[in-house]
Amino acid sequence: MQTATETSPNRPVIRPRRLELPLDPAVVPAAWWDDDLFLSLFGDSLSLVFPVGEKFFVDSVRRYRKDITDAQLLDDINGFAGQEALHSKAHAAFNELFEAHGLKSAKAREAHVARLLDRVRKLPPILQLAATCALEHLTAMLGEQLLSVSDEIGDVHPSVRKLWMWHALEESEHKAVAFDVYQAVGGGYTIRAGVMLAATVIFIAEMVHIHGCFARDKGILLKPGRWVHAVSYLWGKPGLLRRIVPGYFDYFRPGFHPNDRDTDALLEIGRAHLAASPA
Ligand SMILES: [Fe+2]
Ligand SMILES: [Fe+2]
Repeated sequence: MQTATETSPNRPVIRPRRLELPLDPAVVPAAWWDDDLFLSLFGDSLSLVFPVGEKFFVDSVRRYRKDITDAQLLDDINGFAGQEALHSKAHAAFNELFEAHGLKSAKAREAHVARLLDRVRKLPPILQLAATCALEHLTAMLGEQLLSVSDEIGDVHPSVRKLWMWHALEESEHKAVAFDVYQAVGGGYTIRAGVMLAATVIFIAEMVHIHGCFARDKGILLKPGRWVHAVSYLWGKPGLLRRIVPGYFDYFRPGFHPNDRDTDALLEIGRAHLAASPA
């Protein structure tokens, strides 16, 4: 059985950073991302699931804390839980904007995701932990790409930019914690890969549904002309989602470990952005 130190010799120190952001609906517009409402609603859809989703991640990892003996991994679990708790809080504050932005379906969608996670909580704990590993890999990939295209991301409202850069940085920092716990408690490849497939299908279905509901709330669902810039941004250039694809499939390699991807330079970019951000 591998320990955290054996698998991840160069893991970053994981410490939560407090972030106080002025997120006033009077100053943060609904089209906060590059003046593109459809693109902004994509970000809103992701943000909607974070408060309930990240609480699930922490619970699924903490349940195994008692089985971990590696001091480094125990410390990392604390850092991971602290970072995710602050992410949940910050995204809940961001999600308070939804009502003022006219996203009438937000409360119902969030309740739906909470019910879905309640059903997942009835599964065996190792499946819940595997689901967290899968979704942590997706958020780490997304964070990695957000950091790598940070100069091409367009005109994002300063407070919202800081929120996403902070979250992207910390997702990259703690990307291996759930995975190391999974390996330390004997989690195997078949469950890991199978759960990733199921989690991907469910996650994409939920994202498309939430994004569609938000687009309908704003009256742009049936206006494909409004999608063009957003779709080309996400899948063309800079291709935030397109660039995730190779890293996503790497997860299915039997010997995969999150720290196989060296993101030290990106972490430095993220820290510099955070330090220089005025919001
Ligand atoms: Fe997070
Ligand atoms: Fe995370």
